[in-house]
Amino acid sequence: MKRTDVNARPQIVLGIETSCDETAAAIVARYGDGHGEILSEQVYSQVKDHAPYGGVVPEIAARAHVAIIDRIIGEVVQKSGVLLSEIDGVAATGGPGLIGGVLVGLTTAKAIAYALSCPLLVINHLEGHALTARLTNDVNFPYFLLLVSGGHTQILQVNGIGKYVRLGTTLDDALGEAFDKTAKLLGLGYPGGPEVERWARSGDPEKFHFPRPFIGTDHAHFSFSGLKTALRRKALSLSPLSDQAVSDLCSSFQAAAFDVVCDRLDRAISGLAVQGINHTCNTLVVAGGVAANLEMARRLSDVKELCGIDIIIPPARLCTDNGVMIAWAGAERLALGLVDNLETPARARWPLDPQAPVASGAGVKA
Ligand code: KG4
Ligand code: ZN
Repeated sequence: MKRTDVNARPQIVLGIETSCDETAAAIVARYGDGHGEILSEQVYSQVKDHAPYGGVVPEIAARAHVAIIDRIIGEVVQKSGVLLSEIDGVAATGGPGLIGGVLVGLTTAKAIAYALSCPLLVINHLEGHALTARLTNDVNFPYFLLLVSGGHTQILQVNGIGKYVRLGTTLDDALGEAFDKTAKLLGLGYPGGPEVERWARSGDPEKFHFPRPFIGTDHAHFSFSGLKTALRRKALSLSPLSDQAVSDLCSSFQAAAFDVVCDRLDRAISGLAVQGINHTCNTLVVAGGVAANLEMARRLSDVKELCGIDIIIPPARLCTDNGVMIAWAGAERLALGLVDNLETPARARWPLDPQAPVASGAGVKA
């Protein structure tokens, strides 16, 4: 085993991410005082492989990871200037995600950890998203987390590494999934989030009034399937769609979705106060692919006002799936001695808060 004294030189961790359609790796350093540094990072997007199908095809994703993973890891090691013998830990996403892809990254990480005789860190992909802001902004525990990705939409309280309390979750579609489905319906290509955001810029957010599910209810859950259905009906009624109509639909979709996000956050955060729970969180971290949306960032200033809370959104390239977040979560775990053995399995489903009741209809998104 390598040294684990956190006060000595920084601990160097290689991270591997293969849970969906990005093959990514990175090397980070974590210093004894808890701050971190990215030494190298590389993301290979499989977007072109999946684009003809309008969504991620699991079998294609797994094969594409196999084809490129060795090269990506070689590149980050070379770019970091770190010797293999200086790596203190190897981290990989162990789930949740597409199991074929997760197995590719996890098995590769196990082989490298074994060959280097250094600790293996099996990372919950969602924890990777959750902890990124501690690398980019030195955020301290506890904080609130809005996790908005292609597979998940949740509000959590993050109390420490591995310590999460789920305050709300989607009962059907994830927000990123709603963006992707909207884009597909409007023929805007894949992945849909950035396309919908781009088209929305020249649209009127008030042109169409789409449903805003659960606004005003006293829980903090989400539902986006009705919004998607309403948009489909409206689009069909306007067919054939002019460019302006597409922009107006995208803009009105975002307005409805982000009204819901702001209301649910207010409900989750203010709801704790109503219940007499002193949460001591003064920061809301936004993570996951949808956090790259600039209009959402603008709208979240309402939440900042309403809830008197600072909002932190890491840089866009670290909001979408990447290797840095896995390497960093690995470094945080390594510093606490939370290492895993080589038998640790991949998991398709892996909730951050296992105590939270399964929300009806939420499936793997809970
Ligand atoms: O976190 P992520 O890269 O992968 C998952 O873990 O799911 O998130 C991908 C999701 C996709 O649904 C994508 O359309 C969405 O994030 N996304 C966006 C934007 N960029 C990515 N959604 C809205 N606006 C964006 N700019
Ligand atoms: Zn993700």
